[in-house]
Amino acid sequence: MTILILGSGGREHTFAWKTAQSPLCDKIFVAPGNSGTAQIATNVDIKVTDFKSIKTLVLEHKIDMVVVGPEDPLVQGIHDFFLDDKELKHVAVIGPQKAAAELEGSKEFAKEFLFRHNIPTAAYESFDANNVEDGYKFLETLKPPYVLKADGLAAGKGVLILNDINEAKAELKSMLVDAKFGAASAKVVIEEFLDGIELSCFVLTDGKNYKILPTAKDYKRIGEGDTGLNTGGMGAVSPVPFATDEFLNKIEEQIVKPTITGLAKDNLPYKGFVFIGLIKVGDEPKVIEYNVRMGDPETEVVLPRLKTDLVEIFKAISNERLNDIDIEIDERAATTVMLVSGGYPEAYEKGKEITGLENVEDSIAFHAGATIKDDKIVTSGGRVMAITSFGNTYQEAIKKSYQNIDKLHFDKMNYRKDIGFDL
Ligand code: AMP
Ligand code: GLY
Repeated sequence: MTILILGSGGREHTFAWKTAQSPLCDKIFVAPGNSGTAQIATNVDIKVTDFKSIKTLVLEHKIDMVVVGPEDPLVQGIHDFFLDDKELKHVAVIGPQKAAAELEGSKEFAKEFLFRHNIPTAAYESFDANNVEDGYKFLETLKPPYVLKADGLAAGKGVLILNDINEAKAELKSMLVDAKFGAASAKVVIEEFLDGIELSCFVLTDGKNYKILPTAKDYKRIGEGDTGLNTGGMGAVSPVPFATDEFLNKIEEQIVKPTITGLAKDNLPYKGFVFIGLIKVGDEPKVIEYNVRMGDPETEVVLPRLKTDLVEIFKAISNERLNDIDIEIDERAATTVMLVSGGYPEAYEKGKEITGLENVEDSIAFHAGATIKDDKIVTSGGRVMAITSFGNTYQEAIKKSYQNIDKLHFDKMNYRKDIGFDL
């Protein structure tokens, strides 16, 4: 099979790495890809939302399957674009159709789905520019901290958590009236604050059947001890040690099953990954958000633990035969630490040479914001590289990642030295 992976991060390098191990896969293209994918696949400089150019590429190279990494093309309907095109409809697309991708594309849509199917989540109400005053009144009924969410996609920046009610009101106005997050904040969901520890659950579905992948926990803040600005993710651990069998059973019964049956009931066509952001409140799991794709850097710890052939799984998803597959998971723990450009998540410089990669031993360097320039590997983004390791315990795995990071260098390289600190 010839497979196209869309995206350019550590997630997509991991997809390419895992896909390349499959005997079913003859050739891999990645659009646009990075320096890591360039070593195992052919990079093509096409944007993930440029459907017309993607079509040309797919036809030219007789691509059989498209694996969609990020949410943007899914929310913009890439799967429907393939199904609606006579020349493309035979191509397997891994990722939900547009209607289902709204679970990530609109927070209000996701909340309505959760309530309609009795899935545990925070209480909420949503508001637009015509009822800002009602929003203020709703805030007054809540206890601090106040959780404000831009309804639409805001590149991971659309959630504000505020302690002061006046500040919350001012931010609500700024989102609704002054378009703080552009069109994404034309509607705002205000939620009850849930106090607990977060984890993520990853589910594969063909729309009818599902398989649960290992749990993971990511570290979103830039600073040690979970302080400072939010990032795309600074590291991850899998499995999550506090997710006992009993707790995982609750997740499956109360959240995964009603999610999959809810998709079918609501006619939301879904063939792909469901990433369920959860919070453990007391002993109960509650849903914080749905994403319609894998997480990054969670992919860098979840997929390495998957022993089953990923392409076989994708084929089964496409043929709606996911139940025929046995998912085998490596018992060992996996951790990843993200190396980032100095200054990230605010302004940072690019084009810094990355050295020492040839010395990495017993860890995998998944490239993210890194590219090849004049035969050198240089930084091209905020999150540069994820260093993944296995261990019998997550502590052992994390130690290996840090030992290898000591051998790597680029100007102003930064990373968190405390991944897993709270476990
Ligand atoms: P989201 O984009 O919905 O995942 O929200 C981003 C982050 O905000 C989450 O990972 C949580 O840390 C936090 N968050 C979102 N909703 C809530 C909530 N209702 N209670 C507490 N924290 C929340
Ligand atoms: N690491 C969080 C995400 O991928 O959304």
